[in-house]
Formats: sequence, C-alpha cells, structure tokens
Amino acid sequence: MEKITVGVIGATGMVGQQYICLLENHPWFEVVCVAASQRCAGKPYREAVDGRWHMHGDIPAAVANLTVMDASDVDAVSGRCRFVFSAVGMGKQAVRELENRYAAGGTPVVSNNSAHRTTPDVPVLIPEVNAYHLDAIATQQANHDWDGGFVVVKPNCSVQSYLIPVHALATAGYPVRSLVVTMLQGLSGAGYPGVSALDIVDNIVPFISGEEEKSESEPLKIMGAVSGRGIAPMDNLTISAHCTRVPVLDGHSACVSMGFGDPKPGLEEIERIWREFTSVPQDLKLPSAPPRPIMISTVPDRPQPRKDRLAGKGMAITVGRLRPCNVLDYRFVGLSHNTIRGAAGGGILNAELLKARGLL
Ligand SMILES: NC(=O)c1ccc[n+]([C@@H]2O[C@H](COP(=O)([O-])OP(=O)(O)OC[C@H]3O[C@@H](n4cnc5c(N)ncnc54)[C@H](OP(=O)(O)O)[C@@H]3O)[C@@H](O)[C@H]2O)c1
Repeated sequence: MEKITVGVIGATGMVGQQYICLLENHPWFEVVCVAASQRCAGKPYREAVDGRWHMHGDIPAAVANLTVMDASDVDAVSGRCRFVFSAVGMGKQAVRELENRYAAGGTPVVSNNSAHRTTPDVPVLIPEVNAYHLDAIATQQANHDWDGGFVVVKPNCSVQSYLIPVHALATAGYPVRSLVVTMLQGLSGAGYPGVSALDIVDNIVPFISGEEEKSESEPLKIMGAVSGRGIAPMDNLTISAHCTRVPVLDGHSACVSMGFGDPKPGLEEIERIWREFTSVPQDLKLPSAPPRPIMISTVPDRPQPRKDRLAGKGMAITVGRLRPCNVLDYRFVGLSHNTIRGAAGGGILNAELLKARGLL
C-alpha cells in the first residue's frame, strides 16, 4: 500500500519529536515534511533540534535531513503532504487561525493544541469513546465552506486516564453521574524546559494553570451528542478536578471517586466490564490501538508511573485500587502515558481512525 504523506507542524518541540519517533516505520503514514517557527525554518531537522532532542535513540534517518519549513507558509507545507499533525506552541488565537488556514486550503489538521477544543463543530476525539463525533466534520466543512480540509483535536493529556474507564461503564449501562478527580501529572506534560528543578525536586505543585477547567469541561464535550449544529456537551455528569504537578518524568495518574445514578454496578461487575472493554479502534484493527484499552492491575500498590506507563506500548490505561468510596460509590487509580496516549500517540490514533473511515 502506498503510504499517506504527512507533515508535522511544531516538529521540533516535545510533542513534535514524539510524533517523529512514533511515525518511524508507521504502516500507513510517512513523514515527508517538518515545520516549526521562523527561528528553525531553513535548517536541517537534526540541526534545528541539536541540544534539545529529548527522545530515546537517534533522530529517525528519514527525517534527520529534512529541511524545516516555516509552519506559517501554509501553501508550501500543504503542497507536500496529504494532512498535518499540529503541535505548535503558540497563543490560542494564533493556533486557531493557523489551523483554520490549513483546513481552508483543503488540508486536514489532526491537532494536539487546546485552541479548538471548545469550538462546537470541532470533534475532541478519543477513538474508544466518541468515534461517532466524526459526523461533526461535515457540519464544520459546511459552516466554513471548506472543501476537503477540517480540524480534529485530541483532549488534554490527562483526560483519558479516567474517561476511558468511565465511558466503558456507561456503555455497559452504568452511567457515572459524579466524578472527583485528583490528577498527579508528570513533568513532560509541561513541555521543555517545563518546571524548574528547584520548584519540583522534593516537592509537589498543587496548581497547573488552566488544567482543572479543561479536565472538568472536555469530558462533557467528548461524551456529548452530535447534531446538525455541532457537538452539545452532556449535561448529567458533574466533575470536580484537582490538578497537581509531581516529580515524575512521564505518566499522569488520576485518583478518582465516582458516583452512579441507578443502576449501580458491583465491584466484580466493574472489573469485568473494564477487562472485557474494547471499542472502535480495536474493531477496526487500527495499527496504534492497544489490544486492551484498559489494563487492570490487582497488585495493591499499582498502577505506578515508572512500572505501568508503557502498558500497550504507552497507549493503554492501567487501572487499579478499585474499592468502595465512603463519599461517592467507588474509587480507583487510573494511569496513562501523557506524551504517548496523551499526546502524539493519541493524535496518531485519531489519524488512523480518520483514514479507516475514508476521511484522509
Ligand atoms: N507536552 C505534552 O505532553 C502535551 C500534551 C498534549 C498537548 N500538548 C500541546 O501541544 C503543543 C506543543 O507542546 P510541546 O510540549 O511540544 O511544546 P514545545 O516543546 O514548546 O514545542 C513547541 C513547537 O511549536 C513551534 N512553534 C513555536 N512558536 C511557533 C510559531 N510562531 N510558529 C510556528 N511554530 C511555532 C516550536 O518551533 P521552534 O522550535 O522553531 O520554536 C516547536 O516546534 C502545545 O499546544 C501543548 O499545549 C502538549
């Protein structure tokens, strides 16, 4: 099969580098174009990331000598590839304008940025949860009069740690009505150089700007209904989130208490639902889909970031410590890899879903 050509905009950053590595030898996609700010434009990729290559191993040979393009030169970038992954570190308004320019030119954008997550006709995708939100793309294209181009985004890097387990219960007939979530978020979620060592060694920072708002609102849109006007957030789930930064390199842990309406499952029923849960990416056999999206650890002191973040090649969620809660019904700990499932891996899974559904 001839591979689909891909551009990565923001290719020199933390998430961009993860894309470059995860896409090496991808069976469907081939990186033919890398773009970043004007600071890097014109340099070979290996030179542009010299001294700030954060991945294990070398820069993939097929990308090392590509000349970095200016991401704002939309026509030139679009002329080289079928679609782009977007992971640019810019202000929200600037990101929205840039991604819209790509879409207007006919280039699909698979974004990691938060700028479009609240745009009603832009799907915020977790393919195991809301593949049906792809239906909003037709509305988006009609609203803008775009031909072929569109924008889809992935949610904040912490959301999947608790939303995939909660969604699995809802699809089995047990909708969760209240969630209290305390996030313990790894350092890589802040990008590079991120939090100063003097702030985080021997410490926990109990505030991450903007994260609680995203953790409380994005799940409602992800589980919302699609109509001809876009996506309406669900209105019968209440979330209280507390987001902290902890001295862990990769991995976002969620300590979760959940309350059900009626009916309420038993503990063994919850475990069975999680163990058996599969969804659209597994049915479609998408290359990056973990065979089991939810892994259950019954060891009392797991999941732990260092030991469990690479479950399912970094694409699975590990849950553990499921037990009754004295305030809501049950509590558990969910863990996922924030720069794989929570960033580039999640974006690639979104693109695989788009390709499988004939949208690329
Ligand atoms: N880190 C995570 O775990 C994570 C998870 C999910 C989502 N995200 C989101 O993904 C995006 C990138 O995050 P990151 O951690 O990779 O940031 P980063 O390491 O700071 O990288 C930012 C990238 O954006 C490029 N850039 C900056 N200003 C630009 C401009 N004016 N025009 C074009 N390109 C520009 C940079 O290029 P230069 O090298 O030329 O400056 C670089 O390639 C952010 O929106 C972030 O919120 C991050």
